[in-house]
Amino acid sequence: MKAVFILFFLSWQLTLLTAQPPLPEIRKAGEKYTFYVDGEPFIVLGAQLWNSSAWPAITDQFWNQAGELGCNTLEAPVYWQNIEPEPGKFNFKELEHLILSAREQNLKLILLWFGSYKNGRSQYAPPWVLENTEQYPRMKDGNGQEIYVLSAVSRTNLEADKKAFAELMKCIKRIDEGSRTVIMIQVENEPGSMWTDRDYSDAANRVFEKQVPGEIIQKLGKKPGSWPEVFGVDAPESFNAYCIARYIDEIAAEGRRMYNLPMYTNVWIRENAFQRPGEYPSGGPTSNMIEMWKAAAPHLDLLALDIYHGNPGIFNELCDRYDRPDNPLFIPEMGNGNNFARFQFYALGNFNAIGVAPYGIDPFHVDPHDQRDKENLDGRFDGIARNYRLLRKAVSPITRLQGSGKLVAIGEEEGMSEQLIRLEGYDVLFNFGFPTYKNRADRTGRALIGQLAEDEFLLVGFDARFTFRPAFGSGYNAAEYVLVEQGRYEGDQWVRERIWNGDALYHSTLPADGAVLRIKLRKVQSAGNIREKANFDKN
Ligand code: DGJ
Repeated sequence: MKAVFILFFLSWQLTLLTAQPPLPEIRKAGEKYTFYVDGEPFIVLGAQLWNSSAWPAITDQFWNQAGELGCNTLEAPVYWQNIEPEPGKFNFKELEHLILSAREQNLKLILLWFGSYKNGRSQYAPPWVLENTEQYPRMKDGNGQEIYVLSAVSRTNLEADKKAFAELMKCIKRIDEGSRTVIMIQVENEPGSMWTDRDYSDAANRVFEKQVPGEIIQKLGKKPGSWPEVFGVDAPESFNAYCIARYIDEIAAEGRRMYNLPMYTNVWIRENAFQRPGEYPSGGPTSNMIEMWKAAAPHLDLLALDIYHGNPGIFNELCDRYDRPDNPLFIPEMGNGNNFARFQFYALGNFNAIGVAPYGIDPFHVDPHDQRDKENLDGRFDGIARNYRLLRKAVSPITRLQGSGKLVAIGEEEGMSEQLIRLEGYDVLFNFGFPTYKNRADRTGRALIGQLAEDEFLLVGFDARFTFRPAFGSGYNAAEYVLVEQGRYEGDQWVRERIWNGDALYHSTLPADGAVLRIKLRKVQSAGNIREKANFDKN
């Protein structure tokens, strides 16, 4: 009887284990990163709430808008001041509500830990931390003045944050490991110190006077020495980066011990305007501190990019800097509007991003005079909503093509009426501004083009005319359409919705609502002159 019971118990445990979806995970194959959620390749098509919106009173009114946006992931803060109102006493009421309601909406969650650091300050620490600067010391600036930033060299600060974060991860595990609604954690928010390039408290000065730790010297391939000897003019910022990265790494490591979700921290970039550390949070994972962060914070999967620049040159340059063999690109915060709708394509197609998300998606933000309709999505998010509706139909091939050199994004920038893309054996010309009556100032043209096989292409996008031609020197001068299908992918499965032919191919233009196309071609050597653009002859 006992044996039967044990057998029953074991098989029940096994059923539970197998029923559990696998942990979300960022996997690396060669130099390519893919985010796996529920065991499938995933792209975060996200939206981030305003800072003070992760409360039931707000989120309960917001699901309509999330639905309109078509995001698959909501990024929402968890406030240290709320989850630990008294030392060691925890409250997860609001968090549980958030997880359960997101699950009901079929949305995934990325939780943002607003703990010791938020935008280079510490305003989300609980009052019992903020009021007791003796026990929970602050950084000091170069004049010896205490500032609104917790000191990263303080063991008490670190232990307090770490304990709260560990409790948070235990809570997430308890209520979510059977469902995996929460797929990733941001540890702190735009860490660093505003108003000072480093911590000048006595405790920090004592550490600064020591040699740079051997492990960092070794990882960065530097010659041993003091901070100024090794880093010169960048010594204060490098020191701050080291202290903050170690602090966050220890918190992340402890959190992962409780529940091993992918973790990252995000950056307030230094490319905004002023270049001096302290005018942006000094010691954050800025573009000049990536190596230090990689060396000092191995428990973070990635350093994520927050980017609000509407300039495509700066946007692309920054993506390029954070898309590295040791760092998958993820953009948890970006602007909205048509610029950023285009930029999402660049991030995914040209820089292999595992996800993108505009900031401030709910309308319940800080401006009390905001007259926006609280029922519907703000019009500025239209472009991104269109992106999400379309991109969701092609996640599987996009993630497969990323990092292979066979996926390229194009976009209609000011003064640009065409863009030529060269793929293996084919050139593809995109023309913007078709039909000509379209308002060019909108610049809504954007697409991803991927090469699925020698003569087969995936095209995902909006408002761009396309023309294929065999590459010069290939021995062919024209390409015939063999089959052009519009449809969607369900997992790896292609589902055809219709076939394009006749006028559709004469115009060969991605519509304003977007389309996912699979295009099969045949290279030919046609008689007569080299034809300018005809893939198709209208009879
Ligand atoms: C970047 C921060 O990370 C966000 O939390 C928010 O404060 C935005 N800036 C506001 O623009």
